Amino acid sequence: MIRVVVSGAAGRMGETVCEAVEQAGDLELAGRADPALQTPLADLLQEADVVVDFTTPEAATANVRECLAADVHAVVGTTGFEFDSMHAEAEAAARDGKRARVFVAPNFAHHEGKLDAPSGTAKRTAELIRDAGGNVHDPIHSVRLPGLVAHQQVIFGSEGQTLSIRHDSTDRRSFMPGVLLAVRRVADLPDRLTVGLERLL
Ligand SMILES: NC(=O)c1ccc[n+]([C@@H]2O[C@H](COP(=O)([O-])OP(=O)(O)OC[C@H]3O[C@@H](n4cnc5c(N)ncnc54)[C@H](O)[C@@H]3O)[C@@H](O)[C@H]2O)c1
Repeated sequence: MIRVVVSGAAGRMGETVCEAVEQAGDLELAGRADPALQTPLADLLQEADVVVDFTTPEAATANVRECLAADVHAVVGTTGFEFDSMHAEAEAAARDGKRARVFVAPNFAHHEGKLDAPSGTAKRTAELIRDAGGNVHDPIHSVRLPGLVAHQQVIFGSEGQTLSIRHDSTDRRSFMPGVLLAVRRVADLPDRLTVGLERLL
């Protein structure tokens, strides 16, 4: 059994992660860390093999630092998490004999406004298409409306035709297969810090 502590457990994503972990036969929910629950992460680290963090950029940085110090693996979904600086810290922890790995879901390093536009996922998709030799239209278009959850469409244009690939997320549970995959794989990742779900697929 992999023992999982969820950080940000009282939040929208955190609650959904707790449910998903409880429903997984090979995972054990070892604790819920959140100031709203009066449970600091530090009090739960001894119970954890992996910490899943869905908090705020500032809290996530501090939490991952604590995980590295306690030699506990971290899976970070928090948007705006400063993963660049964490590279060096993960390497330093390894030099101290720590085995902990950090996995960061697709999100972006800079601090974004309340409604980041375009989203980290959209920017990452554009980057991957560019890396593969595609022409990416600038700017990336963003729609922010009540009633939407998370929707992404990539339109490939050619003479007289288009091809669209569209993904609609209508519930936070849609993120859970990726979170659980990261929880199961983080301990075996070759690098101290890995960014991007595509690295696990
Ligand atoms: N990577 C993805 O696919 C993905 C998907 C959805 C949301 N997100 C991101 O996840 C994060 C959380 O989103 P949400 O909608 O659940 O937010 P939320 O505001 O509902 O929950 C955040 C929780 O973190 C808690 N928290 C604050 N400081 C903490 C600390 N030091 N330790 C532990 N917990 C702490 C808060 O009390 C709150 O309960 C955001 O950054 C959001 O953008 C990422």
